[in-house]
Amino acid sequence: MCGIVGYMGHQNSNQILLDGLKDLEYRGYDSAGIALLEDGKINVFKAVGKIKNLEDKINNSTFDTKNSTFSIGIGHTRWATHGKPTELNAHPHSGAYSYVVHNGIIENYKEIKAELETHGHKFVSQTDTEVIVHLFEFYFNQIKDAAKAFKQTIQRLEGAYSILLITKSEPNKIFFMKHGSPLAVAYGNNTGEILFASSDSPLIGLASNVVYLEDGVYGIASTNGLIFSQDVKWDILPNSKQFAQKDGFRFFMEKEIYEQQDVVTDSMLGRIADKQINFDELDDTLMDGINEIRICACGTSYHAGLTASYLFERLSKIRCSIEIASEFRYKDPLLTKDTLFIVISQSGETADTLEALKMAKNAGLKTIVVCNVDNSSMTRIAHSTILTRAGIEKGVASTKAFSTQTVVLWMMALYFAKIRKTITDDKLQEEIRILREVPNSLKVENEVHEKCRRLSKRYLHGHGFFFIGRDVFFPLALEGALKLKEISYLHAEGYPAGEMKHGPIALADPELFTIALMPQHLHYEKIKSNVEELSARDSTICAISPLRFDLADDFINTKKTDHYMLEFFEMLVVLQLLSMEISVRLGNDVDMPRNLAKSVTVE
Ligand code: G6P
Repeated sequence: MCGIVGYMGHQNSNQILLDGLKDLEYRGYDSAGIALLEDGKINVFKAVGKIKNLEDKINNSTFDTKNSTFSIGIGHTRWATHGKPTELNAHPHSGAYSYVVHNGIIENYKEIKAELETHGHKFVSQTDTEVIVHLFEFYFNQIKDAAKAFKQTIQRLEGAYSILLITKSEPNKIFFMKHGSPLAVAYGNNTGEILFASSDSPLIGLASNVVYLEDGVYGIASTNGLIFSQDVKWDILPNSKQFAQKDGFRFFMEKEIYEQQDVVTDSMLGRIADKQINFDELDDTLMDGINEIRICACGTSYHAGLTASYLFERLSKIRCSIEIASEFRYKDPLLTKDTLFIVISQSGETADTLEALKMAKNAGLKTIVVCNVDNSSMTRIAHSTILTRAGIEKGVASTKAFSTQTVVLWMMALYFAKIRKTITDDKLQEEIRILREVPNSLKVENEVHEKCRRLSKRYLHGHGFFFIGRDVFFPLALEGALKLKEISYLHAEGYPAGEMKHGPIALADPELFTIALMPQHLHYEKIKSNVEELSARDSTICAISPLRFDLADDFINTKKTDHYMLEFFEMLVVLQLLSMEISVRLGNDVDMPRNLAKSVTVE
């Protein structure tokens, strides 16, 4: 979790660091800070809350970098793990000689802290990070050499982390290390510039080539260039900063909802050709000896996986189970080599999913990651990567990642069905025809958006929401409830509609809002009776369906289509818009909801 940036060069480093931190703000925004070393003098600024608070603090100070000729700086935006979000716990942390920003967790920090305390070190924060500067001080006092002291320091650290460290004794250097948490480094477009960031978005536009550091790599950036502890691979940095702008929408989430029709088209490009589904990324022999698929993911990606589990069984006729990665890791799972292991992750960095992937790979299973971020940790570990091509997703509440994941997984189900000969050619052609219609179903219609805006007024109070659906509309109900919880902070649950009578129906009264997903082409009569049962017990019903339902208190009419998966995507858009409009009405921060982060790189 957290985001880190670093800069050395002849520009206004303060502004470059702040801009970089804003790009990374989606990773965490409990507090932020920067340390700037100029002409041997160090300035540290920290603020609780968003980067804007840090920027205001710097602007209101007497600090001015405009006339500086060369500067070095490191910055951090935090999502608290050890210690509350306070200025004291914010990074950079400082010791007698050094300043550090850190992404990840130092697992053995308590042991190191106890040891250093016996040598007289005094700790001021509650963080794991502070041990780094104290360890550096401890070793520097003995050997008086910053590079050696840094090396000794990092050798003591256990856990997953990336680190940038600057020191007063060698003020023209940034020491860096990557182990488990992502870190990228690049030469800037201007002479003498070196930039660091924990993901590539802050580097876009400022550099052309980048090194995504591998685990265990450390080194030194100085006016003489970069020195790495081992050989590194240079990659070309994408040149697509425009993805990161709102394009006239109020929020990134809104932009990303509207973008879905395009990115889903992108995710199908080249994969539907010659009336077949092709995945160049997958080996023809992939399914040899495979009798089962096991999926692991977290959050919204888990919902895409749960949807896929229905499709893999229905279309590919293969046993498929799905688990939440944080549960899977600790249940001593039985892993057999006839299982294909699929992880799904927007970021490719979620710690629990990453660990689940490593476990499966170590057990000798074939592994695939369905991921949105190329060069992320998961893509480097899995045997095969299927990219979802959704572009940078900035809204913390995931939208376009989910639609692209679902489409890609559906295509994979068809691909496996073809290999396993569980689908006729006619049926495959029919599914392909429907797939091609998905972008149309994801298109946001003005009337639908307007209806959600109007309805948002009614669904603000009450004692809770139940989103209900059957079959693939159950995972969709879970996703609708998650969206609402994430950005409106209202209590919501997703439930299989047929299961309501086994407990939850006891809650039914007019203050219980039921959002009913009622597709025409999948078990319509069944879901209808489930909703009738709730209506008879006075629950307030909002029905989402292409078919008019007279018992509904409110009704959102989706377009008529000829397949339940198209209805799925029609309804997805409604659920996303409804939760967004409720959040707006409540005055919440849609893109950066409280307590959440976009990428959770701690377990
Ligand atoms: C965080 C995000 C969720 C996301 C989940 C899994 O909790 O806030 O939106 O679904 O992580 O992330 P991943 O990147 O693995 O899909």
